[in-house]
Amino acid sequence: MTHNIDTSNAMTIKLESILDDLPDMPEFVDDIRRAPKRHFSLSKSDTVLALKNALRYIPEHWHDILAPEFLDELLTRGRIYGYRLRPPGRITGLPIDVYKGQCLEGRALQVMVDNNLDFDIALYPYELVTYGETGQVCQNWMQYLLIKRYLEKLTREQTLVVSSGHPLGLFASSPDAPRVIITNGLMVGMFDDQENWHRAAALGVANYGQMTAGGWMYIGPQGIVHGTYSTILNAARREFGMSAEGDLTGHLFVSSGLGGMSGAQGKSVEIAKGVGIIAEVDDSRIRTRHDQGWVTKVVDTPANAFLLAKEYQEKKSSIAIAFYGNIVDLLEYAVKTNIPIDLLSDQTSCHVAYDGGYCPQGLTFKQRTEMLKTDHNGFKKMVDISLKCHYELIKTLVNRGTYFFDYGNSFLKAVFDAGVTEICKNGKNAMDGFIFPSYVEDIMGPMMFDYGYGPFRWVCLTGKPEDLEKTDQAAMSCIDPKRRFQDKDNYIWIRDAKKNRLVVGTQARILYQDAPGRMKIALKFNDMVRNGDIGPVMLGRDHHDTGGTDSPFRETANIKDGSNVMAEMAIQCFAGNASRGMSMVSLHNGGGVGIGKAINGGFGLVLDGSDHVDNIIRRAITWDVMGGVARRAWARNKNAIETSIAFNLDDPKQNHITLPFIPDDAMIEKLVSDSLDKN
Ligand SMILES: NC(=O)c1ccc[n+]([C@@H]2O[C@H](COP(=O)([O-])OP(=O)(O)OC[C@H]3O[C@@H](n4cnc5c(N)ncnc54)[C@H](O)[C@@H]3O)[C@@H](O)[C@H]2O)c1
Repeated sequence: MTHNIDTSNAMTIKLESILDDLPDMPEFVDDIRRAPKRHFSLSKSDTVLALKNALRYIPEHWHDILAPEFLDELLTRGRIYGYRLRPPGRITGLPIDVYKGQCLEGRALQVMVDNNLDFDIALYPYELVTYGETGQVCQNWMQYLLIKRYLEKLTREQTLVVSSGHPLGLFASSPDAPRVIITNGLMVGMFDDQENWHRAAALGVANYGQMTAGGWMYIGPQGIVHGTYSTILNAARREFGMSAEGDLTGHLFVSSGLGGMSGAQGKSVEIAKGVGIIAEVDDSRIRTRHDQGWVTKVVDTPANAFLLAKEYQEKKSSIAIAFYGNIVDLLEYAVKTNIPIDLLSDQTSCHVAYDGGYCPQGLTFKQRTEMLKTDHNGFKKMVDISLKCHYELIKTLVNRGTYFFDYGNSFLKAVFDAGVTEICKNGKNAMDGFIFPSYVEDIMGPMMFDYGYGPFRWVCLTGKPEDLEKTDQAAMSCIDPKRRFQDKDNYIWIRDAKKNRLVVGTQARILYQDAPGRMKIALKFNDMVRNGDIGPVMLGRDHHDTGGTDSPFRETANIKDGSNVMAEMAIQCFAGNASRGMSMVSLHNGGGVGIGKAINGGFGLVLDGSDHVDNIIRRAITWDVMGGVARRAWARNKNAIETSIAFNLDDPKQNHITLPFIPDDAMIEKLVSDSLDKN
């Protein structure tokens, strides 16, 4: 029989060695957003289990104080966060030299973790939620403290394993292995559903990592500005026959959400030179985006929003307008008064619509938060009614000529879940997709991912703006704007990045690039680190990328060979990145669309200027992208086949992708019809 004293003596990394004494409850800053109560339906015995689980981190002599406190958190907030153990004050990604550590990677990852929890960055920093309503760095502050300490102790001969936020421990590995391996929310198939998920999360055994929240590579809303800018530009190219040189001048884009990711919409539409109205029910989020300069004007009636938009459309100027109110009210007004909308989307957190991600028409944001606490079933009913109405309005607008696309937030799936079966192509279920396209199906898939273009990013770990400026210039010098229209868009993006004041938090940059582009830029940066031009750099990407995510309603929505139900690409990508020596690899369930609906992974690679890292860049960055392009080519995606043929011809000794032969459609259809009709 072991005793707690034996357990304590067997560990050097533990809360007792991090904290001298049990700290006082930290003060909560008033105007920092707090997560609503999470769905809680644990039985009595499960409640006991949840408490025992959380107390595993806590030395026995603090149990008397913390057990009742944890129980109170569980009952009032639906989760145990361990608030008392949160370091007081603001957490922020500091310059790397400030952090202690045995290796550069351990210190670099501390910068990333802290940046994800910055008051300016995180959606609910006290609840460790970075973005996407529920996307957490880890589950609780005990895990945070231990992860930070493990990263301080980590050497280049070890790997830290993190399972749903829980630091399982340090294990001997090698300098070629990842320093950190993260998994989040991966559930056994038969339990991979909302109900079991809520139980596991409340028990403290599952973390919703979203994508770069639990993968520690979030870089603030900038991360999505570039993707949104490309998406709306390409939507206009597709719908209005706009030339490669054209922009959104005179066009109106309407959407909702000014949160973690959705907050990018206003800024993107301005950069694309269009007019945008973004509805948002939470005034604190509007204030954040307004203070940052990411929305220009705030109005609180639909009439004023459309009046202002019209004025700017007519004078061919760009503007980002925040409408303080519900998107359904805004669209209702547009339908009633016959206002034309060119491009329409939605970026409420519909992947967790019933957990507060979607505020139903008829409730203010405050009432929504209250109702989540007091009447979850009633809230669900209101969400369903609102989504149905939202759908009807979109249908009317589309019939009048609006181009609507799902923005990867599971909106169409949420409408289906609300009981609207006619939203399915087959009128029954989601197997054949929905009647409206997702942005990946129409735009991002064929025009970006199939070529390998994806959200490459980097963080200058010194925290120096001059390092970021040098990397911007270096990256720009690697792009030939004449190669494709995508390269032209990317060139303009990086050329104007500083001017557009995109940095929130660490000195970070996003830049969509394909495999050769990413490798060229990464090698150039590593060389600059080697020469001392800049300090170390963390490279990475969003999971929302060519090869990182299997998600039939989003990233793999344009995979049409039936393999969109498979999750092998993301897992192969993760394993391949780990074996090729990325500094950190992560694999998650859920991502931006919800539990059971996606498997997604990401990486981080610390550039230290070494030849060793040059080799990792050549092998791993190429694999990370081209594994995804290969899968897309095998699904017969035209642009992916073209990209893969070029790849095979470029270096036949090193790489070889299996390519599909394409049969004659008419021949196959006739053969099948003749045969089936005969029988
Ligand atoms: N398109 C992409 O590439 C992409 C990338 C990441 C995330 N997403 C998805 O987009 C969604 C939003 O992400 P986020 O990080 O911004 O989430 P978020 O929860 O931070 O922001 C969503 C915002 O929508 C607002 N909102 C909710 N209901 C509303 C309503 N009816 N009317 C007006 N405003 C309303 C909320 O108040 C909130 O501020 C998520 O589902 C996410 O998974 C898409």
